[in-house]
This record gives sequence, C-alpha cells and structure tokens, in this order.
Amino acid sequence: MAFDELVVSRRSVRQYNEKNVERDKIEVLVNAAMWAPTAGNLQPLHFVVVRDKGVLEKVKLFSPGMPKTAPCVIAICADLEEAKLKGGEFAKKIAPVDSAFAAQNILLKAHHLRLGTCVVKSYNEKSIARILGLPGEMAVLMLIAVGYYDKRPKAPVRKSLSEVLHYENWEGGLKQDE
Ligand SMILES: Cc1cc2nc3c(=O)[nH]c(=O)nc-3n(C[C@H](O)[C@H](O)[C@H](O)COP(=O)(O)O)c2cc1C
Repeated sequence: MAFDELVVSRRSVRQYNEKNVERDKIEVLVNAAMWAPTAGNLQPLHFVVVRDKGVLEKVKLFSPGMPKTAPCVIAICADLEEAKLKGGEFAKKIAPVDSAFAAQNILLKAHHLRLGTCVVKSYNEKSIARILGLPGEMAVLMLIAVGYYDKRPKAPVRKSLSEVLHYENWEGGLKQDE
C-alpha cells in the first residue's frame, strides 16, 4: 500500500472477527513502535500484550471505550520513575507524547498488515495496571485494540485544510499564489 493511501485509509476499527493476532505480527507491530521517536531517546515504554480471553474480559470490564470484540489489546506502559531518574520531571511529563508516537507507528503498521486497530483512552488506569500485574512505578498510557475485521468502517469527516492550516501567523490562510 502506498504511503498516502495507508495514512488516509486507516480507520478506528470497533468490530473484529474471531481470528487471533499471530505472535509474529505482534512482534512486527511492537518493533515498529520501538522505532518511533522518544524524548531524549530515553525509550521509557513497555508493551503488554493481552490475548488470553479471561484477561481480555477483565480488561474490557474496566475499559468502557474498548471494542467488545477486540481479540488482542496492546497496553503501552511507561516506567515513569525510571524516566524521571534518567531525564528529570520533563521526561516523566513527556512520556504520554512518546506513547502517542509509538501508537501511531503501531496503527499504521497494523493497517499495512491488514489488521484493524483502535486507540482506547477510556479505561480505569489503576484497575488495568492491577489486572496486568504492573509494578507500582509503571503507568498505563494507552490501550490499543488490535484484530482482524471483515468490514472497514467508513471514514469520519475531516476538517478541510483551509480550516486548520495557517501560514506564517494565525491570520495567514491557504496561499493561492504558489
Ligand atoms: C487519544 C485518543 C483516544 C481515543 N479513545 C477512544 C476510545 O476510548 N474508544 C474508541 O472507540 N475510540 C477512541 N479513539 C478513536 C477516535 O474516536 C477516532 O480516532 C476518531 O473518531 C477518528 O476516526 P478514525 O480513527 O477512523 O479516523 C481515540 C482516539 C484518540 C487519538
């Protein structure tokens, strides 16, 4: 798939079929995530992958935003204490930004592999951390549902370029002269 098509045709998938996500595909996704930029190259992220039905059920119980049929969840976590030790308060604060870049790599690589994904931020962080057995300093920054799907959802409307693009300053709209 060409890059532009990959970016534009990726969708948040909320209806998955029962096919399991293979281990080798998960490793490809996490490898893509590891090549995303991190502040100061501190690489504070860890990826906890859940495919066990019992654990998935518990995760879904505490994640109202999680698609019910998701057969696999990747929890992007960060050791915030380690981040702080290595890079100070700034590194701790910036870890959620690192997780967003990692997540986007996962989303695009998954789409490239014809897997669907959905970012989920609606979850109870403490409960998910407990279910995943995370050590105390590890925070759950994001959940990503991953799985195969039968039908790609329709694209939700995006704003137009002229609504969001400003050249040189706020008043500078789309230039017509180039
Ligand atoms: C930070 C963030 C949090 C999100 N949380 C959820 C969520 O909890 N549940 C959900 O179904 N979708 C969630 N989404 C997906 C958005 O609803 C989706 O990206 C948006 O509607 C645009 O659709 P598209 O991804 O298909 O282009 C989230 C997306 C982002 C970036």
